[in-house]
Amino acid sequence: LTGAPALPPAWALGHHHARWGFGSEQEVRRIVAGYLEHGLPLDAVHLDIDHLDAHQVFTVDQDRFPKLPVLAEELRRDGIRLVSIVDPAVRALAGNAVYDGGLAGEAFVRDASGEVVEGVAWPGEAVFPDFTHARVREWWGGLYEERLAQGFSGFWHDMNEPTSFTAFGESTLPRSARHSLEGRGGDHREAHNVYALCMARAGFEGLRKLTPEERPFLLSRSGWAGMQRYGGTWSGDVATGWPGLRASLALVMGLGLCGVPYSGPDVGGFDGDPSPELYLRWFQLGAYLPLFRTHASLRAGRREPWEFGDEVLEHARVALVERRRLLPYFMTLAHLARRTGAPFVRPLWWAAPEERALRDCDDAFLLGDSLLVAPVLTPGADRRAVQLPWGRWYDTATGRAYEGPGQVLVDAPLARIPVFARAGAVLPVRGEDGGLELEVWAPARGRTGGGLVVPDGGDGWEEPEIERYTARWTGSRVVVEREGEDGGCAPSYPVRVRGTAER
Ligand code: NOJ
Repeated sequence: LTGAPALPPAWALGHHHARWGFGSEQEVRRIVAGYLEHGLPLDAVHLDIDHLDAHQVFTVDQDRFPKLPVLAEELRRDGIRLVSIVDPAVRALAGNAVYDGGLAGEAFVRDASGEVVEGVAWPGEAVFPDFTHARVREWWGGLYEERLAQGFSGFWHDMNEPTSFTAFGESTLPRSARHSLEGRGGDHREAHNVYALCMARAGFEGLRKLTPEERPFLLSRSGWAGMQRYGGTWSGDVATGWPGLRASLALVMGLGLCGVPYSGPDVGGFDGDPSPELYLRWFQLGAYLPLFRTHASLRAGRREPWEFGDEVLEHARVALVERRRLLPYFMTLAHLARRTGAPFVRPLWWAAPEERALRDCDDAFLLGDSLLVAPVLTPGADRRAVQLPWGRWYDTATGRAYEGPGQVLVDAPLARIPVFARAGAVLPVRGEDGGLELEVWAPARGRTGGGLVVPDGGDGWEEPEIERYTARWTGSRVVVEREGEDGGCAPSYPVRVRGTAER
């Protein structure tokens, strides 16, 4: 009803590192070098408002970021993309090109007397484009050309409720502000909730024209039903603390059920300093969520995995490497989300809505059909209870099989969070040579299994065919076949079967 989710480019399913306050190109290089030196996979770096000239949208602080396109090119060679923050508020100052262009094109929100409405945002006195007007969206979409020329590959829409700082009253546009609402006309009471949705549409459609071969990557802090057509969202400024960690999962799971499959939290929390344990547990959860991004505020403590001691570094590396290994599975889930609406992250009851015990379960989730992830959400834990749906489930770390339905108590040492694979699952993973492999978990005896694989080129618009695999016991072996019109055939990828020792 609200539209199919946009397909992200493959790099967006990797690990992102963001920060408000990198402050300079040198600091970005230092962080990226840290990732490379410590053998930590990294796919994207996000630049916040501190890289802009006086916080003005579509500008660059030339003193601190004098050669952004060169930096972007360097990062791109290491497989790392740059993502830019884009706020809707435009500095109300003659000489600011976006302001001048917007005034000339009558792009800004006005009040009933026809005056442009002014508010206050990061750049100071600011005006706000009326994204509910097709002409304004088109104009705004064209502005991303400047960002692309700076070398950015993705866009992070922020403050788009829209926020206008105010000492009293609502920190947004006045309710009386007028909007086009596609020519119908109306005030901000009606336009408020769709403002960011329309901004996302403007960015998405602009990028489709500017870079037609590429899938746009957009994150938007605010949104409305249907925002998934243009991109994803994140937690906003989730508080650093164990409740914030727990809320991160509720957020992603709830959004997925509302039709927005791609989201994630600020790993580590936005403010303050997480303890090493909290940081690690957040990191381990994030590694299994669609958007896996560390981010923090200007005055918050460090968030790089090597800033929390050797033990955390080692375990964070394991999480990052596993995320990279699971990329083809995440990509397959992105395709399935687009085609069916089923989110990446699903509550346990998705597996068996009739199992009452699963309905109250908010501390574990299904990642697609094949995996069940049980993050650690409390301090000091080294074991945790997990409610398993019907069927056999393998603890992927130990290979041990458990029979559901029922609750089991499993190890959850600092080194890892429990992840279970469904017996019979066939899932695509990245092999050591970077090629696709099939990971297969033995079905229980007398049962069969299977899975879907969508081989994706990483970007672009080619529609890959969905491949269907079956897994079944033949004597003492598990045989995996690709289903076809003329019966089954051998898969064209290497196959690794696990769990066969359990009968
Ligand atoms: C608010 C956003 O939620 C946060 O992620 C960002 O760092 C700040 N604005 C500064 O741009």
